[in-house]
Amino acid sequence: MRFGVCYYPEHWPEERWAADARWLKQIGVSIVRMAEFAWSRMEPEEGRFEFGWLDRAVELFAREGFDIVLGTPTAAPPVWLSKKYPSTLPVDEQGRRRNIGGRRHYCPNNPAYREHTRRIVTAMAERYGSHPQVIGWQIDNEFSGGNTARCYCSVCEQHFRAWLEKRYGKLNALNAAWGTVFWSAEFDDWGQIGAPVLNLASPNPSHVLDYYRFSSDSLVDYEKFQVDLLKSIVKRQQWITHNFMGLHVHLNYFDLAQPLDFVTWDSYPTGNQHRWREMLYGPDAADANYAFDVGDPAITGFAHDLTRGLLAGRPFWIMEQGAGHINWGEVNTLIRPGTPRLWVWHAIASGADAVVYFRERAAWHAQEQYHSGLQHHDGSPDVGYFDQQRLWEERAALEQLTAQPPRAEVALMWSYDDLWAIQLQPHTKDFTYVRHLFVYYRALQRLGIPVDVVPPSAALTGYKMVIAPTVHLADSALAEKFKNYVKQGGSLIMGVRSGFKNHSSAITSQPLPGVFRDLVRATVTDWGVLPAGVSFEIESSVPNLGGQAGTWVEALAVPPESEGARVRATYLNGPYAGKAALTENAIGKGRAWYVGWLPTVAQATAIIQQRIQRVNVARLAELPPGLIAARRGEKLVLMNFTDEPLTANVKGNALTVQGRDVAVVTSDG
Ligand code: GLA
Ligand code: ZN
Repeated sequence: MRFGVCYYPEHWPEERWAADARWLKQIGVSIVRMAEFAWSRMEPEEGRFEFGWLDRAVELFAREGFDIVLGTPTAAPPVWLSKKYPSTLPVDEQGRRRNIGGRRHYCPNNPAYREHTRRIVTAMAERYGSHPQVIGWQIDNEFSGGNTARCYCSVCEQHFRAWLEKRYGKLNALNAAWGTVFWSAEFDDWGQIGAPVLNLASPNPSHVLDYYRFSSDSLVDYEKFQVDLLKSIVKRQQWITHNFMGLHVHLNYFDLAQPLDFVTWDSYPTGNQHRWREMLYGPDAADANYAFDVGDPAITGFAHDLTRGLLAGRPFWIMEQGAGHINWGEVNTLIRPGTPRLWVWHAIASGADAVVYFRERAAWHAQEQYHSGLQHHDGSPDVGYFDQQRLWEERAALEQLTAQPPRAEVALMWSYDDLWAIQLQPHTKDFTYVRHLFVYYRALQRLGIPVDVVPPSAALTGYKMVIAPTVHLADSALAEKFKNYVKQGGSLIMGVRSGFKNHSSAITSQPLPGVFRDLVRATVTDWGVLPAGVSFEIESSVPNLGGQAGTWVEALAVPPESEGARVRATYLNGPYAGKAALTENAIGKGRAWYVGWLPTVAQATAIIQQRIQRVNVARLAELPPGLIAARRGEKLVLMNFTDEPLTANVKGNALTVQGRDVAVVTSDG
């Protein structure tokens, strides 16, 4: 278990550094992350390096016993670079070349930018690549942040054509896959294909989906370019990572994680809520009356669990932990003593091995003047400092957690391709891919069941239950994998819009759910959207399952001759009255369920509860809303995100946790 802080020596008078280092040591901070925005100071003009100041900062912190993480500074190219090489600036969907003055103003495919990247990264790697206390590297900063997932410049268009040629081989194959005959858009030369922008009416969704994938691949490729470069120079003990953004949805995070030794993410619980609330809840309200300054632990927990899943459960880091108020939300609430501590416990209990605070001291200038640090602007300690003092006293308990990997018996399937395909054609604004997953996530979190968020390529055999709420783009290999998983005793829950399309976003000509029909042994005979306020009643043999089905409904039919398949819920009214809404199919030792509507959290809870009894998934505790449970090894952690005491039932024992407090229980199984 390590604590760190983001430190910007270039923001402070050099006389201050030593005092800051000593001050940080007192509270157990032993890692500094530096330099990720310091390109203009490291290379003030093309090819002229000034590393003296960074040498002195690195040496000073090293002498004081700190380990150092260096960021490659490519998220913020210096002014001279953008001005001298304007083609490195990205182009937006309106065809406008974007300006300097913020950050992330570069195109990842631009060959000149690659060369500048090569020069600065090589220079840093040669200088610090064998320093004993430089323990690792962060590539760039928050890829795709601030709406920079996609560039539409001519270089990108050229790369896009090459990307398509590799994917489809022949132009005819592309025309067929996209169905370009529709609206007379058939291509007879690769050179005719551009980015899907400035179209009239609307672009072809297959074209757009491929541009999203290409753009994601471009950033992954740019990351890999830096990873390979670093690896070729630095000593092997220095690891390489990147700081992700939790539930950010514009980049394929599973791909972005691949080249890295481990992943990290930047957690700002009060900001997460502002960023993702609409996507995750829509018109619904949050689950509990959380304390005003803690954020929403369902959102933060979902981001922790997704991050952990990016490299198949490998422990992660928090590279930036907000420890006080932020500056980029709608209402940047103050943070009370005790809250940062709760966030750190939540991160560690969810699988983080180190927490690096953002940032050491609040900045005097520029874009983030109103953002807090561990120190106020005047250098006096802010709330995060005092909480870190307390965490440092608790380190033995935290180390018992980091000594063990987190383990889950349930997997929740997440696919960026599905997310994007549905985002491009939601059919109703109320259908959001991530919101659908979040319904199941909240049900699991309420039930006290740990979950791994996994990609469709994940190995499933270790899980007692797999929930794949929507597998929209599918192929028979995935259907086969699901089938084998179920045969061997797995419990699979699938849901609406599954098996709809192939990977090019063309709809299957088979009855739905397409490739999964044999697996669920049910057919979707009708499907459709209901506007807000309209819903159909359902009746079910599953305990506690009933109520209304809305937003998206599918009528299911189980063939009469089928063995093993049966109806578990039925529509009572509306055009689907009498038809199945939920089916179960027994294959081998397991069961595959198909849920034909977008369930509520209560309905998802009833479905999960029925299934976990059959396959023996352990619940960590019975929890009231606002109390969250997580587990590493034999340590169970209960965290109260409300202001009032809450009581959990842990295997028959009542356990009360105070408001915004944490309790650790040693449990055997
Ligand atoms: C992000 C960035 C940091 C900083 C913080 C402020 O996470 O990576 O550079 O802007 O936000 O909250
Ligand atoms: Zn570009």
